Amino acid sequence: MQCSLKLLIPALVLIAPVALAQTSARKFPNVGQPLSQAEIQSFDHMIGPEGKELPAGHGTAKEGAVIFANRCEVCHGKNGENGITHHLVAGSPGKPYRGPFYGVEKDGPSYFPYPTIAWDYINRAMPAPNPGSLKPDEVYSLVAFLYYRNGIINENDVMDQNSLPKVVMPNRNGFVPAKPVYPPEKKPSWW
Ligand code: HEC
Repeated sequence: MQCSLKLLIPALVLIAPVALAQTSARKFPNVGQPLSQAEIQSFDHMIGPEGKELPAGHGTAKEGAVIFANRCEVCHGKNGENGITHHLVAGSPGKPYRGPFYGVEKDGPSYFPYPTIAWDYINRAMPAPNPGSLKPDEVYSLVAFLYYRNGIINENDVMDQNSLPKVVMPNRNGFVPAKPVYPPEKKPSWW
């Protein structure tokens, strides 16, 4: 009896995961299936620094002002200043803020090194209660409005997939590269 128990316990330990896997495969039949290209594309919305992934569309600061008042002001304050959450404006029209950056008051789009980041962020994450609900034209308009209020572009500049990536951000040189750049003579052998 003792001998058979000695065999039974390890056998149960070995069999249990297989039995469990079979049960969960029956319960969740789609677990483990590769995603199709269409499925991947449906949530692959990331916009890189060069803006190659930006969709067609356009907008101006004047158009953005109306959308901002309706959908963003409640949290971010009038013109993106003094809201209950992140202040989105650190400079003023014609006068970009160039740092130092620290904390909520001086963050926002002025801080971003690439002009496409605000587009990507707003498109995916805002307005907070209903993210993903903005159309490309609305996102271009909101970015134009915020960049105008931050003194980064002029009020009549049109933001679209060609003009937006060319905007020069005031803090673009304020970041240390994630990977240090060594001059050739100082490059460690392991680099
Ligand atoms: C219900 C409140 C709410 C509304 C409405 C809202 N936001 Fe926000 N927003 C937030 C919060 C909270 C954060 C900070 C999120 C975090 O840090 O994780 C944020 C962050 C942001 C940021 C990033 C700021 C930074 O410093 O990194 C931007 C840009 C932004 N919102 C734009 C918008 C725009 C444009 C709209 C309107 C379409 C909008 N938000 C509507 C609450 C809101």
